[in-house]
Amino acid sequence: MTYHLTRHLAPALLGLSLCAGPLGAQEAPDGAYIATAADCAACHTDEGGAPFAGGHQIASPMGAITASNITPSVEYGIGAYTLEDFSRALRQGVRRDGAHLYPAMPYPAYAKMSDADIAALYDYFMNDVAAVDAEPAQTHLPFPFSQRWAMIGWNALFAGGDPLHDDPAQSQAWNRGRYLVEGPAHCGTCHTPRNLLMGSKTSEFLAGGMVGAWSAPNLTPGEGGLSDWSDADLESYLKTGVAPHARASGPMAEAVEYSLQHLDDADIAAMVTYLRALPAQPSAITPAKDSGDQAQADTTAPAVVKPWEQAGGRDAHRLSPEAEGGALYETVCASCHALDGTGSADGTYPALVDNVTLEPSQSANLISTIVHGVTRKTGDHHTLMPGFGPQSAVQRLSDAQIARLATYTANSFGETGHTVTARQVETIRTGGPVAPLVRLATPQIMIAAALAALLVVLLALWAIRRRLKR
Ligand code: HEC
Ligand code: HEC
Ligand code: HEC
Repeated sequence: MTYHLTRHLAPALLGLSLCAGPLGAQEAPDGAYIATAADCAACHTDEGGAPFAGGHQIASPMGAITASNITPSVEYGIGAYTLEDFSRALRQGVRRDGAHLYPAMPYPAYAKMSDADIAALYDYFMNDVAAVDAEPAQTHLPFPFSQRWAMIGWNALFAGGDPLHDDPAQSQAWNRGRYLVEGPAHCGTCHTPRNLLMGSKTSEFLAGGMVGAWSAPNLTPGEGGLSDWSDADLESYLKTGVAPHARASGPMAEAVEYSLQHLDDADIAAMVTYLRALPAQPSAITPAKDSGDQAQADTTAPAVVKPWEQAGGRDAHRLSPEAEGGALYETVCASCHALDGTGSADGTYPALVDNVTLEPSQSANLISTIVHGVTRKTGDHHTLMPGFGPQSAVQRLSDAQIARLATYTANSFGETGHTVTARQVETIRTGGPVAPLVRLATPQIMIAAALAALLVVLLALWAIRRRLKR
């Protein structure tokens, strides 16, 4: 693999940027740039904490997993790691002491990274990152997920694999793009659906997946995917988070802020080249089912603030849910996105008309955007929309209000016939749907599984004894 990088230091991390190295030369890979492309800081640098000192908690369906201190501190970080130890942690998910890491650390993707890049990363972490002698909190997942050795079985099924090798039949850009997308930039961690055991479904690579309360859309040219995006729109989205009909919010805003905006234009273009050539797949995200709870949610919803009723006097009639959604939109959203959903002329406040977030497969993103708002820093620009969930400093809306607002917004500016229910809002507001694996891990089922396992062992022993007797 050849590298054609201008030299970069991760500007967001170091507060300075250094450019203008020799261009086009066959340089050794630059560890700081790879750390940025691989977004190590997104997880290993806590908000307000020292770079790579760990402590950031990654929400997983099994509970919060704390990222390790990966500064070169010998006692608390990875100071004692050899290059071999480091490579094993990054590619196989095994710590120096032999314990297995949880796949919240994206080692299934990093397994595809080249030896040269791993060595450059090691060099960067050992020599250019300041040691921090502090121990982040420990991860304590509930049983059975507390059993790290269980990852051995999981790894055999879903991880491992070799570093990618260039495919000589493809262009250099395609090869570089595939390397970034599948390896360091680990797009599939979020954009590939997961099976019952939470392994990535490789047959549906990048066809769309859930990340907690957000859905990461289909990136293939299939239905619900990127076929109607131009290359320029896609490049702009990855580099700045802004495209004509989509903006990056939630976890994608973080990927843009910490990683993608700092990549070379050639690398962004290479990723687009590769995404363009993916086989078309239908979206793997199924819009949340309408569980028919609207009526019940309406009667149990807390009292709704209705400024228009106060003005209307005592006999103001009870508004229909649609009318209420419209009235809420008018008071809460229209000041920025305009009454007719066309946003502001300069695009600071995006148009909601024809916005991808209003597609039924993205209802999780619509709800999450209303609950949490948007924050994304690119260059010296901070894009901000306030959230309207329970933590809002601006205005707190109930689940039922958010449901009516989302339904109104989706039907007025996107496709019609799309209903968001209060139950869906509750699910998304509390972190997203619970993975089937976690739902199964109830004490009764664990006891039943343990008994079944015991029975299998007893049967095996019995069979062996019979054979020995013969
Ligand atoms: C999506 C989040 C995420 C990203 C991105 C990520 N890590 Fe991790 N990493 C984790 C978590 C979480 C753990 C701890 C997992 C555990 O306790 O099982 C971890 C553990 C590690 C460890 C083991 C350290 C120890 O002894 O405990 C190393 C080494 C490591 N990461 C290096 C890296 C490097 C280098 C990068 C970038 C190339 C990176 N990580 C990117 C989440 C992440
Ligand atoms: C941490 C999880 C995560 C990672 C890693 C990630 N994405 Fe995303 N991505 C998302 C989420 C969530 C959305 C939806 C965001 C929104 O609607 O505002 C998204 C949206 C997108 C979109 C817009 C698609 C649409 O139809 O709206 C594109 C394009 C995209 N991502 C490409 C990528 C590429 C390429 C990579 C790897 C370089 C990547 N993403 C890595 C989570 C992620
Ligand atoms: C104070 C101004 C403001 C208010 C009020 C506001 N928004 Fe936003 N909205 C924004 C900004 C800014 C963005 C982010 C633009 C970007 O990401 O580039 C945004 C983004 C969005 C998006 C995401 C678009 C995308 O492509 O991902 C949706 C959907 C949205 N707003 C809906 C709403 C709804 C519904 C309301 C009312 C509850 C609302 N907004 C209230 C300013 C506002």
